[in-house]
Amino acid sequence: MARYEEHPADMRADYTIDQHWDQYTPEEHAMWRALFERQSKLVAGRACKEYLDGLNGLGITLDGIPDFERVSDLMEKRTGWRLVTVPGLIPEKNFFEHLTHRRFPVTYWIRPPEKMDYLQEPDVFHDLFGHVPLLVNPIFADYMHAFGEGGLKALKLDALNYLGRLYWFTVEFGLINTAEGLRIYGSGIVSSKTETVYCLESPIPNRIGYDTLRIMRTDSRIDALQETYFVIDNFEQLFEATRPDFTPYYEKLKTLPDIPRGQIAEGDIVLHRGTGVAG
Ligand code: PHE
Ligand code: FE
Repeated sequence: MARYEEHPADMRADYTIDQHWDQYTPEEHAMWRALFERQSKLVAGRACKEYLDGLNGLGITLDGIPDFERVSDLMEKRTGWRLVTVPGLIPEKNFFEHLTHRRFPVTYWIRPPEKMDYLQEPDVFHDLFGHVPLLVNPIFADYMHAFGEGGLKALKLDALNYLGRLYWFTVEFGLINTAEGLRIYGSGIVSSKTETVYCLESPIPNRIGYDTLRIMRTDSRIDALQETYFVIDNFEQLFEATRPDFTPYYEKLKTLPDIPRGQIAEGDIVLHRGTGVAG
């Protein structure tokens, strides 16, 4: 983190900075290797095929923190996306603007060893290992691009809390149904040791079929394991369901109460009713 503070003048108006790849320390690369080694074992057989295919061939490997320019060159050939370096979370408007230009903002710093298991804000491991593999899937790449446009619109309509929930329950914490069983595609899950196992194997959380309006009504929290996961059948379904103009959705949502995050609601397609308690 310190490195960015040493170079405040580096930051451009769109909140991007240079990665300064040559300045990572051996300890920082070692942290990456430890995280990569642990998570790549856990996601095998748990993450969806599209994610695992994406992870291969992007230069996101056990070797160390990747050079974003090299990853970008490989991504660009496949879906037109590139990475840009940011100091951490950036204002929503700037984030969505990057997405509309097929630029994915990636945090440059890596978590310190004492926070190996849990970190509340995104670091380079979450952003790269979590988000980047699906950006070389053509449908998901288009979904993220559309999300950028949708985000700018939601900002104007004062509806960002609703769209934020869609981001949360799909991009960050989404599950997908496959012939082999439930699999993970959410980046917040694949970058978390505990949640990678919990989301599929624990009886505690609900698993409910994807429904855009239902998701937008669901209260979310960022500091604990999810109480409910939403399950898509495939990425085409997700893309088609989010294609309509959300303006009337937002108007309707402003008249509807939120659904507490652990609750099953009328009309839910319940794949698994969570037991809701630990143990
Ligand atoms: N169709 C959405 C809208 O009108 C845009 C969007 C697409 C949002 C995909 C999220 C994901 O706002
Ligand atoms: Fe994320």
